[in-house]
Amino acid sequence: MTDTRVAHQVLLQVRNLSKHFGGLQAISDVTLDLPGGVITTLVGPNGAGKTTLFNLITGHLVPTSGTVHWLGRPLAGIEPWRIARMGIGRTFQDLRLFGQMTVEENILTVMERSAWLWQSGERVARSRVEEILAETSLADKRHARAVDLAYAERKFLSLARIMASKAKLWLLDEPASGLDPRSFDRFVTLLRDYAARGVTICIIEHNLDIVSQLSDRVAFLDQGKLLAQGTSQEILKDPHLAAIYFGDRA
Ligand SMILES: Nc1ncnc2c1ncn2[C@@H]1O[C@H](COP(=O)(O)OP(=O)(O)O)[C@@H](O)[C@H]1O
Ligand SMILES: [Mg+2]
Repeated sequence: MTDTRVAHQVLLQVRNLSKHFGGLQAISDVTLDLPGGVITTLVGPNGAGKTTLFNLITGHLVPTSGTVHWLGRPLAGIEPWRIARMGIGRTFQDLRLFGQMTVEENILTVMERSAWLWQSGERVARSRVEEILAETSLADKRHARAVDLAYAERKFLSLARIMASKAKLWLLDEPASGLDPRSFDRFVTLLRDYAARGVTICIIEHNLDIVSQLSDRVAFLDQGKLLAQGTSQEILKDPHLAAIYFGDRA
């Protein structure tokens, strides 16, 4: 299959998805497609339901109603670790690295399972680790423990782990928050690069400069509802959405 064909396929389909916590409608009747090779940004005020939507896709939460299909297959009832192995990778707001392991070990733990299947697996895995360390500018830190890294480096390590996992869909929960400008440029280049290679990316992001630089599409969530979808220009110029986003409802 060529990259061009991958780029036009819808890989993930969310249909009429809802999640209630008691009386709270955290996600309410959301329908959304994630097409291959496209960077979609999920924006919306705090508590809009963005992380909950990720949790519903990855099997960490069970929907109240509605469906999620990945590559045409329903994900209902499948455990998170299986969904991860089916090619849906994610990062968490709190990163969840192995703090006492080195940078290299954090990456290798993601690779091991596929590596041992191949005769020359060890060598292939090592060269892939080198590539990832270079792409994330972590080569000099390979022997540092995750816990000793600077903030931006920890963020890049969480990306390195998703890169090593060969996931086809990356769900990134606020991956750019707190990055300095140089790290941010590297981050944008890296995501654009992987999207061009056919990786589908969905990012939760608060910074609207980042949203406009990075997104092919923007989906706007508020109080669990998907209020609008479109290009970042369409979404960011909408005064009604801006009022909601900046907490300035009429
Ligand atoms: N496990 C949970 N139990 C109860 N309420 C939850 C749970 N997870 C999230 N919520 C609530 O659902 C709403 C959406 O939360 P969340 O998805 O984390 O928002 P966002 O990521 O957009 O800031 C919030 O009101 C939050 O308090
Ligand atoms: Mg969140």
